[in-house]
Amino acid sequence: MPTSLLLGFPDYSAAAHRLAQCLNLPCEIAVLHRFPDGESKLRLPTGLPERLIVCRSLDHPNDKLIELLLTAETARAAGVKHLTLVAPYLCYMRQDMAFAPGEAVSQRIIAPWLGRLFDTVITVDPHLHRIDELREVMPAARAITLSAGNLIGDLLKARLGAPLLVGPDSESRQWVARIATHAGLEFLIAEKQRRSDHEVDIALPPGELRGRTAVIVDDMASTGCTLATTAALLYQAGAATVHCCVTHPLFVGDAITVLHAAGVQQIWSSDSVPHASNAFTLAPLLAAALAG
Ligand code: R5P
Repeated sequence: MPTSLLLGFPDYSAAAHRLAQCLNLPCEIAVLHRFPDGESKLRLPTGLPERLIVCRSLDHPNDKLIELLLTAETARAAGVKHLTLVAPYLCYMRQDMAFAPGEAVSQRIIAPWLGRLFDTVITVDPHLHRIDELREVMPAARAITLSAGNLIGDLLKARLGAPLLVGPDSESRQWVARIATHAGLEFLIAEKQRRSDHEVDIALPPGELRGRTAVIVDDMASTGCTLATTAALLYQAGAATVHCCVTHPLFVGDAITVLHAAGVQQIWSSDSVPHASNAFTLAPLLAAALAG
């Protein structure tokens, strides 16, 4: 019997199989049933090995978090000694402070909870703006943070030659700067104020944009309003073409329509979350971290 197994879920089975193939590990998919009242029933494969790698991205997270709890407890009861969670998109990282009295600081609740369930947690470009390292909020687990930045830089260079990279907010500066350095590209950083879930104010820094091919790069896109508002400003400033590239394509509701209405041409993303915009896979990056 192999000593490790990769466990996927029906909503993330293609990515789980790609990762298992990179690792040369067997892959099985958990069986899930949703009861009429909304509760989840989970069935794991029998005969689990001592090491189990659970692979599931945590977009639309609430049901998935309960299912991870069921998975971890069931696996431990079945004798699994080492549990790894590979969650390319790690949820609840944006609520990293109480913005109003009484608000839950979700990052500081969800991250340590996952850290207690799993021995190792591996994720990609988590939204960490007020802390430097995931392990600051995930103390129990070995927390490994990877970045898709080099893959994004390589993709943009291959597709566009020498585009101008645009980070939509000050928090993106270090990440965008690293991508630009890796790929030898220019970049600029805008300022963002969020007014509501669907409204942001963006200000571009001074600079010559006429005729430029610009790519807005961000760790994630949800409603798309950050990307769309930035794209509209870039066109107003004279950019010839605006594209977008994100690690985590959540793209909820009519986000893609909103982006196209703002004139965005190409939309590229990693396969962190399955989406039509997926242009590159994280599997080799994740596999290298698991093998290391
Ligand atoms: C926040 O700072 C993130 O980096 C993204 O810019 C943000 O989450 C995108 O959200 P939305 O697509 O809803 O504007």
